[in-house]
Amino acid sequence: MRPVLVVEDVRKYYGRVAAVDGVSLTIEEESVVGLIGPNGAGKTTLLDIISGVVRPDTGRIKLVTGEGEVDLTGRPISYITRMGVSRAFQIPNVFSGLTVLDNLRTALIASRRLYTRPTRSYEALPGVDEEAHRLASLVGLEDRVEVEASSLSHGERKLLDIAMALTTKPRVLLLDEPTAGLSAVEKGRIVELIEGLKRRGIPMLVVEHDLDVVFSVSDRVVAMHEGKVLVEGKPEEVRSDPRLRVAYFGE
Ligand SMILES: Nc1ncnc2c1ncn2[C@@H]1O[C@H](COP(=O)(O)OP(=O)(O)O)[C@@H](O)[C@H]1O
Ligand SMILES: [Mg+2]
Repeated sequence: MRPVLVVEDVRKYYGRVAAVDGVSLTIEEESVVGLIGPNGAGKTTLLDIISGVVRPDTGRIKLVTGEGEVDLTGRPISYITRMGVSRAFQIPNVFSGLTVLDNLRTALIASRRLYTRPTRSYEALPGVDEEAHRLASLVGLEDRVEVEASSLSHGERKLLDIAMALTTKPRVLLLDEPTAGLSAVEKGRIVELIEGLKRRGIPMLVVEHDLDVVFSVSDRVVAMHEGKVLVEGKPEEVRSDPRLRVAYFGE
């Protein structure tokens, strides 16, 4: 499989704490990489570095496209998003006073502004409504398009947040704890969505605490501990690795 996103020997110190301490990983086409590790392992910092929120002290982030490699290291969020890396958040990043459809319209209009010069009447942009409905259906919110985000369940807000991350047509999607705080039924919907997006060819890096979810959706799992990659491999290999238990529960 061809690599899509390559993280090379990335480091980030906060004072004397090495939040990320020499991490390398590759996300390949049509694959899901699960990123696990105890609290403080450096998972969110790594997502922050990839998505441009935080600049790494050393190391490289590269996107591999059909036209060649693009260096994303330390570039602005807008550039990284435009190049094709999109992110959904642990706390859904939606406008609670807007309906599902208006949230999607707003995100679509904002994402088009990444590519084109602003125009006066955004409502007139062709295709925005169709695309908003298409994305709502894709995440299973087609019956909820007229509902205000504030009235959605937590799980539905997560689905909407993922739909909003898809408005930029990403080449790679980063998900930070997509099932955190969800019921078993809601977790099932997120798992189905991740599997559906994978079938559509969107590679993903998924930070997730629920190990059952991670081991079921991931093609490969990377376990971090104290800023470093501790174990990496197929889900069943990582799951049975004794080092994982030590990292989570101590000796
Ligand atoms: N902005 C920050 N300032 C100082 N320390 C930070 C900051 N962000 C993260 N850290 C520290 O870096 C380490 C990794 O944190 P984080 O990436 O949030 O881990 P995880 O997401 O795996 O729980 C922790 O020790 C955390 O306290
Ligand atoms: Mg975190």
